[in-house]
Amino acid sequence: MSDTQLFEEIIELPDTDSGRRYDALVGLEDVKSRLAKEAGILLNPSLLEDWSKSKHGRSIPLIKIFEDRHPLFIFAGDVGTGKTTLAETFGDSLSRTNKLGIILYRLSLNIRGSGAVGEMTRLVSAAFTEVKDYAKKLKPTNGKYSSACILLIDEADSLAQSREFDQMHHEDRAGVNALIQGIDSITKAHLPVITVMCTNRLNAIDPALRRRAAATFEFSRPDEAQRLNILQKYLAETGISNEELQTLAKSTGTNESRDYGYTYSDITQKILPSILLKSYPENAIDVATISEVIKNTPPTIPFNEYKERT
Ligand SMILES: Nc1ncnc2c1ncn2[C@@H]1O[C@H](COP(=O)(O)OP(=O)(O)O)[C@@H](O)[C@H]1O
Ligand SMILES: [Mg+2]
Repeated sequence: MSDTQLFEEIIELPDTDSGRRYDALVGLEDVKSRLAKEAGILLNPSLLEDWSKSKHGRSIPLIKIFEDRHPLFIFAGDVGTGKTTLAETFGDSLSRTNKLGIILYRLSLNIRGSGAVGEMTRLVSAAFTEVKDYAKKLKPTNGKYSSACILLIDEADSLAQSREFDQMHHEDRAGVNALIQGIDSITKAHLPVITVMCTNRLNAIDPALRRRAAATFEFSRPDEAQRLNILQKYLAETGISNEELQTLAKSTGTNESRDYGYTYSDITQKILPSILLKSYPENAIDVATISEVIKNTPPTIPFNEYKERT
């Protein structure tokens, strides 16, 4: 398998489209801000030293707690809540804030291979080797990097499933081991590479990987205020009143017949486009059309693991 097939895409950041998609994410302010700090520090540990000296006049012991952390983040949560979008785009914000050039490697799902003995291990190792070979060429100046890499492993449960699962095929276990080795080797070599694993099933991820994560971010469906925020943004200037939008935000939440509301993607990829196409070309958008679309478009049923918790 050639190197290009190991990765679905290799993208150079910053780029305008990523910036736009990052900005369009609603309700993730806390995640975005924590992620920006965590990632900034992982790529440039000397930032903490600088901060400590400037605020405390010395290098305080607390900053040692950040030494030797694995540059691994896990994004976990229900489908359609922005995990993939944030993983693909936070590098854009990171690169602008820290004046870094960032290469984003999106691992291909084909990496699971055809199931032939040793194939998955070989492919996972080859992917890490390619990213590391690139990262080794990046040298810090005065303790700070001017370029870095992000390795995105989407749908990571298909690759990083717990080795404890009895029914697990020997070959899958080998793949998890290769992942762990890859991450450990990046940590050991202090390379400027952040690995992000996205999953709908956090519990299925191997405990050894979960333990290594510097941070695990949990994503959930939008609450009423967040749904209102999206509706206001996209239905602005249609003549729908704010009061009506509030009623619509409520109607996309939980009710007597279901204990879950709509996901972000239910709203942005199903409801809003349907509203437009139902009105176009004859009619203007009105509340009756919106209500009908909502009624005819039920929310995505939650993934079991997350349903149990809500
Ligand atoms: N927090 C959010 N704010 C606004 N839109 C969102 C958000 N999360 C998801 N979306 C919408 O849903 C689409 C799918 O999201 P995605 O990142 O693929 O979700 P996940 O990976 O969690 O299943 C996005 O392209 C975007 O339109
Ligand atoms: Mg996804």
